[in-house]
Amino acid sequence: MYYPDELIEEVRTKNDIVDVISGYVRIQKKGSSYFGLCPFHNEKSPSFSVSQSKQMFYCFGCGAGGNVFTFVMQYENYSFQEAVKLLAERAGVNLPEAEYNEEIRKRESLRTRLLEVNKEAAKYFFYQLRSERGQAGYQYLRKRQLSDETIKKFGLGFANVTSNDLVQYLKSKGYEDRLITEAGLASFDEKYGLHDKFWNRVMFPIQDSNHRVIGFGGRVMGDGKPKYLNSPETMIFDKSRNLYGLNFARTARTNNIILCEGYMDVIAMHQAGFTQAVASLGTSFTAGQANLLRRYAKEVILAYDSDGAGVNAALRAIGILKEVGLTGKVLNLEPYKDPDEFMKNLGREAFEERLNKAENSFFFELRMLQREYDLSDPESKTKFHREIARKLCGFSEEVERENYIEAVAEKYHIGFDNLRRLVQTYAAQTGLAVPASRPKSGIQKKSDPMENKRKPQRLLLTWLVEEPAAWPKIKKYISPKDFTEDLYQKIAEKLFADLDAGTLNPAAIISLFTDEEQQREAALVFNTKLVELDTTAEKEKAFHDIVLAVKRNSLDYLSGQLGSDISALGKVIEGKKALEELSKTHISLN
Ligand code: CTP
Ligand code: MN
Repeated sequence: MYYPDELIEEVRTKNDIVDVISGYVRIQKKGSSYFGLCPFHNEKSPSFSVSQSKQMFYCFGCGAGGNVFTFVMQYENYSFQEAVKLLAERAGVNLPEAEYNEEIRKRESLRTRLLEVNKEAAKYFFYQLRSERGQAGYQYLRKRQLSDETIKKFGLGFANVTSNDLVQYLKSKGYEDRLITEAGLASFDEKYGLHDKFWNRVMFPIQDSNHRVIGFGGRVMGDGKPKYLNSPETMIFDKSRNLYGLNFARTARTNNIILCEGYMDVIAMHQAGFTQAVASLGTSFTAGQANLLRRYAKEVILAYDSDGAGVNAALRAIGILKEVGLTGKVLNLEPYKDPDEFMKNLGREAFEERLNKAENSFFFELRMLQREYDLSDPESKTKFHREIARKLCGFSEEVERENYIEAVAEKYHIGFDNLRRLVQTYAAQTGLAVPASRPKSGIQKKSDPMENKRKPQRLLLTWLVEEPAAWPKIKKYISPKDFTEDLYQKIAEKLFADLDAGTLNPAAIISLFTDEEQQREAALVFNTKLVELDTTAEKEKAFHDIVLAVKRNSLDYLSGQLGSDISALGKVIEGKKALEELSKTHISLN
């Protein structure tokens, strides 16, 4: 952390979470909390809650949660430091520049300068497109049926024929050669000196989800090669973690996101009113991008080119979407090549119809697979059916698998029982595929063995937050060291100190973590609803079990270290005694 804790705490307390979130999301008071539609996933009824007393937000639908910093980080796609800065400004708190260490300050200032120089370049290209010299570019875009409004919305521009135009301009604005090259806007060689990377091209500024220009794509106005020239990756331009059009799509509030391949496709769809369209950046779709999309929709409709390369790219994307838990569907654009051409020829209503008819991604996979087999030949047909059965094993949940077996049997005229048996044979041979892991969801699967260790630790912390009065009763048995998860240990340290001092402050505890995922995980501790138990006796038993489980796990962990750590032995013996005593002790919760 680059700012002192007290300063972070000052910024946090001066930004009431209800005020801040109200600026982004419509929330209404209901009981002791405020509720609204979650901005981090798509929903129809409000499960996003903001608590003024806890100064935290939490979504019961998607598990997003945290304090005011977490909210700004997630909503604006900011780092912790950036969120602190924004909120400090909002509340008029001065952040001393000197609190940054030298290296970090350099990095931050390079980041800022790169963003600045890109913005300046975008402004320059934009202006050129409207000047005499940019007419070729402007006419090109108009010929491709883009309206003035669309050109403006996407900030499209033009790079002149002269090859050091932009360089001259940026230098006149005081940007040094090194920064211009580092931004990928120019390169240097002996013969030409510093010269523009882009010339005689229409320019597509690429923006991050906060509308900041992070790079460019430039298209030739004809058949020249390469068709598109893109900025190289820089400190601010990570092609695997940004998507073209996401700055608009993230607020589209539709049930789905449309994922396509090209800049022009995104623009054509937005112009036709499908503002949920995004594209990858001249590279193939990545897990990082899939995770980004998970914040905005549950379903992704693929609108990839209908040629062979497009189909292969779609098949890859389906796998990636599945891995992060998103549903994929595939749009049929036939007989057109891509969304742009489709839109030009058949228009928005026809497109809407195709959207509604988008194909389940599993059926799409099967349909593509089928092309490799000759179904009039029993031998080949059998192989195809085997392949289907093998793929069906990929559904690890029984209900889902059965439903698919049923649907596939009907669609491909295979006897249901036969197909089912075939699937079972393969399942027995290979074991059912492991369910896709969801690294960033924060909601763990029950089958995870680590979760059995984590859960009691989390429950104990949650319990103490909900009922601080229970703390003195177990204080002598439990210490932060009993929490074997780093994150929980850190929470326990602060929480126990706060409980001792009588100053419980969950939102401040979350600021101990600068990573968004950790903040989310910490928020979970403070927002889990404990099961309502009827009688005091039941409650006391449950609590006792949790404390015991934490203690036992801690002891297991210590024992595991016996070989390497002499001092552990004493602790193990001590721990065993404590555990024994604890198991015989009645903890009263009255
Ligand atoms: N692309 C690229 N470099 C190329 C060709 C393509 O980076 N030489 C990327 C661009 O992001 C482009 C996308 O791949 O938008 C899809 O390429 P393509 O289908 O060839 O182009 P379109 O987007 O259809 O563009 P246009 O309609 O202008 O031909
Ligand atoms: Mn195209």
